[in-house]
Amino acid sequence: MHYLQSAGTQQPLKLSGPTLAGIYLGKIKTWQDPEVKKGNPGVTLPGHTIVVAHRSDGSGTTNIFSTYLAKISPEWAKQPGKGISVSWPAGIGGKGSEGVTGTVKQTLGAIGYVELTYAKENNLPVAQIRNQAAKYVDPSAAATTAAINAFSDELGKDVRTPIVDPPASAAHAYPICGLTYLLVPKQGKDPKKHDMVKQFIQFILTDGQNTAECLYYAKLPPNLADEGQKMLGEVRAAGGFYPARSLNYDGERVLTHNISILLSGRGSNFEAIAKNVASGKIPNAQIAAVISNRPDAGGLSVAERLGLKALVIASNGKKREEHDQEVVAALKAHKVDLVCLAGYMRLLSPWFVQQFPRRILNIHPSLLPAFPGLEAQEQAFVYGVKVAGCTVHFVDEELDHGPIIVQKAIPVLDSDDERSLAARILEQEHIAYSEAIEFVLAGNFEVVGRRVVGRR
Ligand code: GAR
Repeated sequence: MHYLQSAGTQQPLKLSGPTLAGIYLGKIKTWQDPEVKKGNPGVTLPGHTIVVAHRSDGSGTTNIFSTYLAKISPEWAKQPGKGISVSWPAGIGGKGSEGVTGTVKQTLGAIGYVELTYAKENNLPVAQIRNQAAKYVDPSAAATTAAINAFSDELGKDVRTPIVDPPASAAHAYPICGLTYLLVPKQGKDPKKHDMVKQFIQFILTDGQNTAECLYYAKLPPNLADEGQKMLGEVRAAGGFYPARSLNYDGERVLTHNISILLSGRGSNFEAIAKNVASGKIPNAQIAAVISNRPDAGGLSVAERLGLKALVIASNGKKREEHDQEVVAALKAHKVDLVCLAGYMRLLSPWFVQQFPRRILNIHPSLLPAFPGLEAQEQAFVYGVKVAGCTVHFVDEELDHGPIIVQKAIPVLDSDDERSLAARILEQEHIAYSEAIEFVLAGNFEVVGRRVVGRR
């Protein structure tokens, strides 16, 4: 970016790498310098002295910029060289991109460097930089993608490869680009935070890519996104409870995990889970509360029979968010670590899901992703599938959708009708849900993309 407009320069300023290096070395001192003029034929350049603005603090932007100058100019490579902060031969230092921008905006004839999104957001005029194909290129997300692609092989081997001064074959590449890095510990102290960081990075590498260009960032080419996924795989998600069985959701040391069952109906899955908790098949756990959104749910009398705490939080006539807030408040009041939906016929709001990241399970009577929604067994039967079953999965913001923990399959028999098929699926549900709870509470897994995989 630069501040030459008021001198009548309306056309974009064009600079070659050596000219830019000459300016930053303090050797090219005015905008009338023959080197600058040569690159801008027909343009009336102002008579001002050039004022160089640079960062005074350490910065990744400086690292990219100085790496470029070192590549383009042997003199710069020798002194001051490259790095996140260098000893500048000329100019005025400013703190942060704001400081550099401030200097440029206030000083006629000034030139500075900031990342593209900053220049665009602040409507700063930017120069076109000549690349190796001798084309003067505007900075843009597309021109950055072109530069990244030119280094694709090298980046595949080492993601730290600088993306500056790409070869002439990348005709439309902007020559001063770089990747943004995150330094993430493989194992985090706070399991809840670590899990969320991992999920956030997962978002950046996948869905978040679609918003990159509106912020003037280039999308990652698929091979680099894959590389990112591979590295993310090395980051240990908290998974269940880390270390297994000794910490609860709030990171407190506990011997027993509190499970809550949410239901709307007869509660046969709940009963099977309760039996396995009582017998110790699901170890180190207790059912802290059974919550029904319907006062007439059969599951409530099961709870009473088993001497377990049951609550009715009626959903009738309430907005989803309002009801969810009441349920979450009850779960928190009971210090619940794991929420198990067992025939809970309500879609949770995204806010609810976010209150218990990777701590909400659901059972569905089909082999997902086939037949989500209501009457899954009937849907499968009518469709004519030969194999049916059930799925226990983590709950995310979509219906019957999150990462799969356990599935059980059974053949559909010629002699089956809808009822007999549903009954045989239900038998499997009663086995699958407890297996999934035990697996999750043991915490010996991680979620990679959609895959729930055991830790090596
Ligand atoms: C179960 O078949 C469960 O898979 C299903 O409701 C039934 C509840 O039975 N859940 C869903 O369809 C969720 N989409 P239960 O009350 O006897 O456990």
